[in-house]
Amino acid sequence: MGDALAGAGADLGARTLVICEAVSMYLPPVAVDELFAYGESLPPGSKFVLTYLPRAVAEDPRHAKWARRLRWQTAFHPPELAGQMAGRGLSVRADVGAPEYREQLLRPIGRTLRVFEGERIMVADKA
Ligand SMILES: C[S@@+](CC[C@H](N)C(=O)[O-])C[C@H]1O[C@@H](n2cnc3c(N)ncnc32)[C@H](O)[C@@H]1O
Repeated sequence: MGDALAGAGADLGARTLVICEAVSMYLPPVAVDELFAYGESLPPGSKFVLTYLPRAVAEDPRHAKWARRLRWQTAFHPPELAGQMAGRGLSVRADVGAPEYREQLLRPIGRTLRVFEGERIMVADKA
C-alpha cells in the first residue's frame, strides 16, 4: 500500500493522517490487515483513523438483510481491535460510537442529527 501511495507522490517519511471511513466492512479481512500493515509502517506522530462495524452489530440477526445487501465482510470486537492495533505499534486513543458522537460532537453545538448507531470510530497514534 505504501508503494502505491509513494508512486502517487506521497512522502512516506512524513507524519501522516490516515482516514479509512466507511470502507473496512466492505473489504475482506486480509485486505484490512494490509491496511493495518501500512499503519504499522507510518512514521511516529502519525494518526490512523478507522471506522468499523463491531462484530455484535455485524452478526446481529436483525441486521442479516443489511449484511447480505451491503456484503459486509469484516467486523471487529472493540477490545480485539485495540489488541491488533497494539500489535502494529498503534495505540488506540479513542474508540467511540453513537452515544459519544451525540454527547461530544453534536450536543456542544446544539445539534440533534440522526447518526448511524452501528458504526464506531477508532483513533490510534503511531508512537
Ligand atoms: C460508504 S462509501 C465510503 C466512502 C469513503 N468515506 C470516501 O471518502 O471515499 C464506501 C466505499 O467503499 C468502497 N468499496 C466497497 N467495496 C470495496 C472493495 N471491495 N474494495 C475497495 N473499495 C471498496 C466503495 O467504492 C465506496 O467508495
